[in-house]
Amino acid sequence: MKKQTKRTIQLVSGAVATALLARAAYRQNHQLDISSFVYHNEKLPGSFHGFRILQVSDLHNARFGFHQKKLMKEIQLASPDIILISGDLIDKRRCRKNNIQPALRFVKEAVKIAPVYYVPGNHEATSEIYPYLKERLLAYGVEVLGNSMVELSRNEEAITLIGVKDPKFYIHEPQRFQHNLQTLKQMSDNQFHILLSHRPEYFDFYAACGFDICFCGHAHGGQIRLPKIGGLYAPNQGIFPKYTNGRYVKGDTTMFVSRGLGNSKAPLRIHNHPQLVLVRLCKA
Ligand SMILES: [Fe+2]
Repeated sequence: MKKQTKRTIQLVSGAVATALLARAAYRQNHQLDISSFVYHNEKLPGSFHGFRILQVSDLHNARFGFHQKKLMKEIQLASPDIILISGDLIDKRRCRKNNIQPALRFVKEAVKIAPVYYVPGNHEATSEIYPYLKERLLAYGVEVLGNSMVELSRNEEAITLIGVKDPKFYIHEPQRFQHNLQTLKQMSDNQFHILLSHRPEYFDFYAACGFDICFCGHAHGGQIRLPKIGGLYAPNQGIFPKYTNGRYVKGDTTMFVSRGLGNSKAPLRIHNHPQLVLVRLCKA
């Protein structure tokens, strides 16, 4: 074989292999999973039987189709009564007013589907753009829960949704996160409580406070997932993290942890597709 032909074959093979790898990586980061759960509790007010909660977490300003169309289609199909955003809508490493459009577009479309409730995560806590983001979210009609609560009402019945800011907002006062959470829980008169909080590693504390359901993110599914082992690493939990994906139960408290949608420092997910979580409430 001529030297030039051999060189051409090598170049073409290299280009094909690179294209295939790039396609595989794109699929790992963009193929959306929707995980559905049914939650039973006899404490649940009867009017909330069948209530559908969709959780979106850790978008990190990622894009899912032009104008987030792929993401919005999945959310619309899930037909939620409310949408909960459990932090890290943006990424502190890629934050300018003109490049958080994917996050803003997602929110702008989400409020057309159902009422949206949001808590800020650690990336919002450390980003200079957070005040601007918050202003935009409020303008779109999002309920920003930064250490506050709302009553969700149906017919004459109500449940409480409490949302807390990420502990990174109080880096010099580490106890403030738990203090805020406990105080809010004590202030509520309702029988049934849902918590929206970015961090899953405080699960024991959430259970001790007596929350019925918690929605958390932050762990990104452990970034790389292995069969029978699960996630390999999550921030603030280290290697072989305990809370990365799905449902966890402790006493009367159930926590749902979303694997999230986007990436931060580590750019690639492996066996860990972006995930939406849908929970249907049932009066047992
Ligand atoms: Fe995150």
